[in-house]
Amino acid sequence: MDGNGRWAKRRGLPRTAGHTAGEETLATVVREAARRNVGWLTVFGFSTENWVRPPSEVRHILGLHRKLFGRIDELNANNVRVRWIGRPFDEPGSRTPAPIQKAIRDAIRDTSHNTGMVLTVAFDYGSRAEIARAARLAAVDAASSGGTISPTAIARHLYDPELPPVDVLVRTSGETRISNFLLWQARQARVFFTDAAWPDFGADELDAALALVS
Ligand code: IPE
Ligand code: MG
Repeated sequence: MDGNGRWAKRRGLPRTAGHTAGEETLATVVREAARRNVGWLTVFGFSTENWVRPPSEVRHILGLHRKLFGRIDELNANNVRVRWIGRPFDEPGSRTPAPIQKAIRDAIRDTSHNTGMVLTVAFDYGSRAEIARAARLAAVDAASSGGTISPTAIARHLYDPELPPVDVLVRTSGETRISNFLLWQARQARVFFTDAAWPDFGADELDAALALVS
């Protein structure tokens, strides 16, 4: 979900206003994607690299994640189940603050009965760290069972092994890079690039992205 800062700058607004608008866009996209029977929607909310941003901006983005994970009534109304991927809270290196951990846990619990789209939020997420950790765990398995470190063995240890292969990967705001998102899972993905900044991403862009896989 890239381009919040540039979107704000173009309007003479602080970057934080762009993030606020972006969170609203996400709420809309979740609703629209669920309505289109998308099975799994995974969004990059905050990366392991994003912690170096100015503290006030990080604080603002953290607040928006609490807001997003707090949209329980809306998520339930849209039959959406929440999941999360990122550095596990109890492992070294994890940086997710306790209040966000709680918001994530609560959202997962309070939407677990839903049967529609799965919304996975990547927070404190980086794909290479995910793959390296999975490979480490696969190596431990291999050492104890005499097996090999196969792709299947690695896939079993990704943050969410149930996350299906990515069909279409969307990058907004004119960037044509993947930037450490779901590198393993997106092996066969179609890629949709749009000049629209994330706060401007709407139903038309969603339809264009989905047309790549329909
Ligand atoms: C995306 O918008 C939000 C996050 C990465 C948290 P940016 O903040 O990257 O916006 P630009 O790229 O500066 O426009
Ligand atoms: Mg950016």
